[in-house]
Amino acid sequence: MTQDELKQAVARAALDYVVDGEIIGVGTGSTANFFIDELGKIKHRIKGAVASSEATAARLRSHGITVFDLNEVDAMPVYVDGADEITPQGAMIKGGGAALTREKIVASVAQKFVCIADGSKLVNVLGNFPLPVEVIPMARAVVARKLAALGGEPRLRLKDGQPLLTDNGNLIIDLHGMQIERPAELEAVINNIVGVVTVGLFAQHGANVCLLGTTDGVQTLSF
Ligand code: A5P
Repeated sequence: MTQDELKQAVARAALDYVVDGEIIGVGTGSTANFFIDELGKIKHRIKGAVASSEATAARLRSHGITVFDLNEVDAMPVYVDGADEITPQGAMIKGGGAALTREKIVASVAQKFVCIADGSKLVNVLGNFPLPVEVIPMARAVVARKLAALGGEPRLRLKDGQPLLTDNGNLIIDLHGMQIERPAELEAVINNIVGVVTVGLFAQHGANVCLLGTTDGVQTLSF
């Protein structure tokens, strides 16, 4: 099976977690895109969705799915999203698609976080994937110095040779070379740096379930 076929398989399996008549939280990225395409096939069963990025909102709308502003939504049974890395304990690195802040906000409202990922994303220790940190532009340099003091190498994320701007108008600093043994602690430390909007560590709001695509089929990990 190709990596895309594995992503498609977990996206399809995630439909089992969709609650009829409810609003679904939807993540960002290539695996989430497969999920949106599957969701489009059962759109009559749901009330609508909350999107974690402008790109996701556009894709949901292209399937005729109603997109709700999170401020209009009190409760959400489930949030479905991919991950860049996930541990056997359900802690994740996210933000490879630069949507980490809205992803964490929507995930924080949902009762259950269902992570969908191909098997290559499962790791014992987070950090091989550079850790994304969303930063207020005027704080770029000071935050980079503080991140470097944590032992990693901060690099400003670029797009087409220019600093990438998030949907929120902020910058992303990717922290390379970290071996993250205690994700929840590091999440708190980085979130506490003035000028940081969000770190792409999802340990306090980690996954409740991970549907992992492997050549032996979809494995379900529960945390
Ligand atoms: C988006 O900002 C990310 O958090 C994605 O969920 C993550 O990068 C996984 O993306 P893929 O599904 O494309 O691997």
